[in-house]
Amino acid sequence: MKIHVYRDLEAQGKAAAALFAAQILKKPDSVLGFATGSTPLRTYAALADLYAQGALDFSRVHTFNLDEYVGMAREHEQSYFNFMYTNLFSKVNIPAENYRLPNGLAADIDRECAEYEAAIEAAGGIDLQFLGIGHDGHIGFNEPCGEFPKATHCVALTPMTIEANKRFFASADEVPRRAISMGIGTIMRARGVVLVIYGADKAEITARALKGPVTPQVPASILQYHPNCTVLLDEAAAAEL
Ligand code: F6R
Repeated sequence: MKIHVYRDLEAQGKAAAALFAAQILKKPDSVLGFATGSTPLRTYAALADLYAQGALDFSRVHTFNLDEYVGMAREHEQSYFNFMYTNLFSKVNIPAENYRLPNGLAADIDRECAEYEAAIEAAGGIDLQFLGIGHDGHIGFNEPCGEFPKATHCVALTPMTIEANKRFFASADEVPRRAISMGIGTIMRARGVVLVIYGADKAEITARALKGPVTPQVPASILQYHPNCTVLLDEAAAAEL
């Protein structure tokens, strides 16, 4: 694990974007794994800036997102599809057929999970995966549990995650109860992983995930075993390391 600490969030976001930019420059048809939430926003803005400056070409890039809510249409304001479209896909030249998120409206959710996993494999696997972390150590929607989930699967959101995500909805009641998420196995098979964490509220989980025992009770702790994982922290998140 390579751990870098940044003084400000702008520099942290730009550093994460630089890793993705380098990946695209090295391999223009890269398969990238993306996340939603607050953490990647500066990175996506920096990638969009690089594209606007003519420094990056997304025309051959393929992307897979970590997760999507079950029962939510792509067009819904809070869908992860809409998040990605608004913050990145609409701002760069990635063809619409090249980006994919799990389909939360699929009639057969288990089949959708299997097809999503197969599509990642058919694309050659993920070259570089962006990750944020939840306060309970989740990555994607892989919440603390008895064993690391291997493949893309359907998950029930924990009360903590529903609480954390209710800020995007009118009330906690409107937060979807289930999601489709890449598994820990899917994430670990990515050839490279970039984990970005900021804020004092994540200092404790940062220390547990990066320096504590590897356990499915702290799903992100498995990244200690990833052969090519880069962690970008701000000083507040690094405080308990
Ligand atoms: C989002 C995702 C989640 C978030 C995590 C942190 O696609 O998979 O694991 O990365 O919940 O969320 P933020 O960045 O909002 O603190």
